[in-house]
Amino acid sequence: MNIKDDIEKILISEKEIQEKIKKVASQISKDYKDKTPLLISILKGGVVFLTDLMRYIEIPIEIDFLGIASYGSSTKSSGVVKITKDFNYDISGRHIIIVEDIVDTGLSLKYIINLIKWKNPESIKICALLDKESAHSSDIKIDYKCFIAPDEFVVGYGLDYSEKYRNLPFIGVLKKEIYNK
Ligand code: IMP
Ligand code: MG
Repeated sequence: MNIKDDIEKILISEKEIQEKIKKVASQISKDYKDKTPLLISILKGGVVFLTDLMRYIEIPIEIDFLGIASYGSSTKSSGVVKITKDFNYDISGRHIIIVEDIVDTGLSLKYIINLIKWKNPESIKICALLDKESAHSSDIKIDYKCFIAPDEFVVGYGLDYSEKYRNLPFIGVLKKEIYNK
């Protein structure tokens, strides 16, 4: 089977994603000109985004991964956040850029920011591929935002439904019947 057959519609094409990420990467290269930021990608959804983003950044960077599980196999936020992988290095005194796939209710992000703050970094900025603006309160500030997401469940480019569809190169919506399987 081809996973593309399960897609109802494409919301953001591969080309649009790449073009936007290039712009965000160039902004990061400017903003951190004389620094070496540490990009922390949130597993697993943020991985695809990180691997493209980092290749367009032209200043020295380092990367690390933080594993967070906030969704089971359903499409609703549980509000329960569990650490599945901690940082590999000491992040105190570092300029941190959190690389997230999507901010929905913002619960995961709030949890992650508090966790990082506690380790005394020099600065923290948020970089998100998608923002479901209407789903969270306005006190969540996303410094580098690629796209506003509609208030519906999306898959692809790192985002999953029941752990599948992360390998689609675009962002799309699944056919209704997939959820009833
Ligand atoms: P939040 O805590 O509600 O902001 O949820 C954040 C996390 O839930 C994201 O990092 C994703 O892993 C997942 N998530 C939220 N919305 C979607 C979606 O539309 N598709 C796939 N995963 C999503
Ligand atoms: Mg995530």
